[in-house]
Amino acid sequence: MSTNVEQIKERLDIVDVISSYIKVEKAGINFKARCPFHNEKTPSFFISPTRQSFYCFGCSEKGDIFSFVEKFEGLDFKGALETLANRAGIKLENFKNEEQPEEKDKLFEIMEESTKFFEKGLTGNKECLKYLEKRGLNSASITKWRLGFSQDEWRSLYDFLSQHKFTKEEMLQAGLIKTADSSNNPGQTTKYYDTFRNRIMFPICDSAGRVIAFSGRAMQEDDKTPKYLNSPETKLFYKSEVLYGFNIAKNYIRKLDYTVLVEGQMDLVMSHQSGVLNTVASSGTALTELHLKKIQKLSNRVIIAYDSDSAGEKASRRAAELALSLGMEVKITSLPKGEDPASVVKEDPEKWRAALKESEHFVDFALNKAMRENQGKNLTKEVVKNVLPLVSLIKSEIEKSQFVKKIALKMKVREEAVWDDLKKIPVSSLAETRESIETVDLKKIVDLKRMAAAIIFLEESLDKKSKKSRERWQEIISQEKVNEILDNFEAEKEALIFEAERYSLEGDLKNIFEDIINRIELENLKQKLQEMTIVLDDKDISKEEEKSIMVEFKKTQKRIQELNN
Ligand code: CTP
Ligand code: MN
Repeated sequence: MSTNVEQIKERLDIVDVISSYIKVEKAGINFKARCPFHNEKTPSFFISPTRQSFYCFGCSEKGDIFSFVEKFEGLDFKGALETLANRAGIKLENFKNEEQPEEKDKLFEIMEESTKFFEKGLTGNKECLKYLEKRGLNSASITKWRLGFSQDEWRSLYDFLSQHKFTKEEMLQAGLIKTADSSNNPGQTTKYYDTFRNRIMFPICDSAGRVIAFSGRAMQEDDKTPKYLNSPETKLFYKSEVLYGFNIAKNYIRKLDYTVLVEGQMDLVMSHQSGVLNTVASSGTALTELHLKKIQKLSNRVIIAYDSDSAGEKASRRAAELALSLGMEVKITSLPKGEDPASVVKEDPEKWRAALKESEHFVDFALNKAMRENQGKNLTKEVVKNVLPLVSLIKSEIEKSQFVKKIALKMKVREEAVWDDLKKIPVSSLAETRESIETVDLKKIVDLKRMAAAIIFLEESLDKKSKKSRERWQEIISQEKVNEILDNFEAEKEALIFEAERYSLEGDLKNIFEDIINRIELENLKQKLQEMTIVLDDKDISKEEEKSIMVEFKKTQKRIQELNN
């Protein structure tokens, strides 16, 4: 059978698909772009129309349209298949008729039907519509976010879904109904009731826009029920990965190259309504590394705009620490005390945009706050306790040293004194972070060396006498080292020559080779920096040693900066 996958591949061109997500430009017979899977300034992501595949020289990510959509959208294979089938105008009949329909398909279906039911519920509810209007939401926002209303009744969704041939088990699995506690009345048949009652319903979607959960806000606030009630975790809904609004915001995050992170559903809807389309919400669950990694794939920059109350401040700090330790650039907004993005937008959308424009780097924010609130000895204490730990999380050594400089300048102390205190910061989580960078970088270096070897092998297989690339590399590292590397890849030689032929379609091999060996040097230098920081962390190190390492450290930093430019 011509599978769905084959049909889709026949109809869709990889360049069209990828260029609907990222900006691509022509490069010879191929296309290139800034890689969406790692952060970079110059394009090393190549798309080959002839092979219908992509390859990134920077991070070695590769694949076809399916793997691209999976990776980019954070979907499973099936989600990517559905997205691309839609695009190609192909019905996934084969897929669905295979065996029984999958459990997940049924769950997606029940969520979709429920969403429609709730949407209808809102259209007919004047009181709820009035409330939303009072909160500042316009009808376009209500439609865009598919807001709904769940009746103030025990079983209205249950009855509706039963009529539509969904079983109780499916409703339970989707988290839409609950069983009443019947332990007091043994022998009685189990009773069910709707999870969401008398609530404004916010559907939560996966990145393909399929509804996977709900968050319901109470229409009547009291002490008995929580203000916001979320779906339990189900086969579709993993709280630690889902960001509210991501399915819509993702394209804008990439285009604008930063994310605005807010707390609540109302904040998100209002922020989008004011035109800030790159907003996502953590919506009440604690922000996790998975959440951040999801947005980091699209942009390395984030502005945190949580509520301006003490809970919000605490949560902001946690989020900022996490993002910094992932190597992100983190800024924070200052909203008037007691306000949140929703209330600011309602008052004046311009004010919200201004707050974003004036957001500060989180370290600057912490430093300025410390300086506003403390003086003399207390200031020093405060900086050591609350500012330096943030600096120590910053991954880029260059950026780190810039902050050290700034702190020294503002506090009128020597830079070395700041470095001293910085080094005293416990390394617990920091050590972990470092470990993870090293392993990643090692793999990257191996991949880069493999590519360099491939080019040399190709060149020398075409012309036995040509030693250009080999000799160029020997100018940077010794002849022995080059030989050693090539020996390591000798066994893969044939395969590597094929691979290098592919690179040659991608552009001028000489330039590619130059780029690769520069990257290798860059990675080696970064590693050297990391090793030096570990030696510097050692408390037994002598002053002499420390001094000489610092000299080397600065030299290395400078060279890294050169290479980065
Ligand atoms: N939240 C939650 N469960 C609660 C309370 C809050 O999950 N019982 C989450 C919701 O995502 C909420 C966010 O935390 O949007 C922020 O809480 P809060 O500031 O109290 O809610 P607001 O968004 O300001 O609520 P609203 O604007 O609807 O009054
Ligand atoms: Mn709030």
